[in-house]
Amino acid sequence: MNVLRAADFDLTGKVSRRVFVQGIGFVGVGLLTSLFGGCDAIIDAINNRPVRRRLRTGSPEVDADINTYRDAVAAMKALPAGDLRNWNAVAAIHGTTLGGFNFCQHGTAHFFDWHRAYLFYFEQICRKLTGNAKFGLPYWNWNQDPIVHSAFLDPASTLFMARNNTNLSTLPAVGTATLDPIFGDTNFFTFWQQIEGTPHNTVHSFVGQTMGGGGSASDPLFWMHHCMVDYCWAKWNIELGNDNTNDMTWIEQVNSHFVDENGNAASATAGITTLMPLLSYRYESSAIGSSPAEAALMTKAEYQKVEARLRAGAKIAFDIKQRIVITEKAAVSIARPFSATTKAAPQDFARIINTDTAQEHIFASIAFAQLPPTSDFYLRVFLNLPSASSTTPTTDPHYAGTFAFFGTDIPSAQHKLEPSFLVNLTNTIQRLKGAQELRDDTPLSVQLVAVPFSGKFERPDTELVLNQIEIITTPVIIRSKQ
Ligand code: C2O
Repeated sequence: MNVLRAADFDLTGKVSRRVFVQGIGFVGVGLLTSLFGGCDAIIDAINNRPVRRRLRTGSPEVDADINTYRDAVAAMKALPAGDLRNWNAVAAIHGTTLGGFNFCQHGTAHFFDWHRAYLFYFEQICRKLTGNAKFGLPYWNWNQDPIVHSAFLDPASTLFMARNNTNLSTLPAVGTATLDPIFGDTNFFTFWQQIEGTPHNTVHSFVGQTMGGGGSASDPLFWMHHCMVDYCWAKWNIELGNDNTNDMTWIEQVNSHFVDENGNAASATAGITTLMPLLSYRYESSAIGSSPAEAALMTKAEYQKVEARLRAGAKIAFDIKQRIVITEKAAVSIARPFSATTKAAPQDFARIINTDTAQEHIFASIAFAQLPPTSDFYLRVFLNLPSASSTTPTTDPHYAGTFAFFGTDIPSAQHKLEPSFLVNLTNTIQRLKGAQELRDDTPLSVQLVAVPFSGKFERPDTELVLNQIEIITTPVIIRSKQ
């Protein structure tokens, strides 16, 4: 079994064995060392790496990608049950509808890299089974294209599955107002938590049915959604110039239980996944919120600069400077808004609030003891608006953010999830102070409002089990890309 490690690609050339670079094949490390020193074959492989395009109508290339994808899904579904590349077998790596989550990483710092490796091997299987070595998975940019592509809506298609909602236009979690501050977050750990809890979870639960739980990978739309989640990471990291952590424990984490294109067990370290968008595929850039599409890397110098930056990462941790507990151990009914008042006031965060170039962020950290029994709703978080209700619009100046649960509490599940969420309060506090709605000494209060996706709750008696709500401050990371 090949474990791909970033160390295999050490540019010092100290590692002398031959390594397998997916999509490129076996190459000596010496060749990689001189990647841009004259080995035309590898340069070509990298220049011609498959493109993951934005799923949309009106592009012949995307139409061709959808056709390949449809063929790949059909081929995987047609494989015998004993073949580990079989559609259901690959989905079961992630989880199943009855058993909940299996090996997937949720609520951990390996959310991005585990799912990147999962997609990577899935894409290899698609290439192999269709004979299309240049196939790249399309990504569903729900911010730019909030309506599910029609290829997935035809009940006769193998890409179809029953879903509750396929039009995300009204979902705040994928809207620009919610995504912009998240993409402005320069800390790997807080960026990941917000992408996971906000657009990622909300899209799963809003689409619903199979997509709403552990078995979601058996909905063909899952892979388009996760390709977008992966593009969010790639855009933030490569296009916007933010750094991943260089913590060795994180880099060396081996994500396993995958299956490669030949049906063999496969794994990948977190570190190597950070290089995949450079070595194995590239994203056709598109806008997310106010971050525009960017030109592809064109020159050797540009590519080398990005590669060096990705390999290096940066000294980034989830440091908490200040921590103020608001609520501990509470049962919160989804049927009515929940409000908790703190002892903290804006004056306690003066150094953050009273400057445009704050070196820290203020978050509400909201932690639950378990997943709820249903997840047909999302939460809106407001600041100092005790009257907030499910009809308070997200354009209200007290609105701070949104998140949703993904999955439900299944007792037999392999791992028990204690989901926790971060909502950035910095802008909201600044805005309310600027509008004289908050004084320096007004105690801060936080409201949680559950909003059902379909207009009413499946189980209005659902109680959320809160571990705690805290207000925390974390240092802002300075981007290394100039
Ligand atoms: Cu592991 Cu979006 O799921």
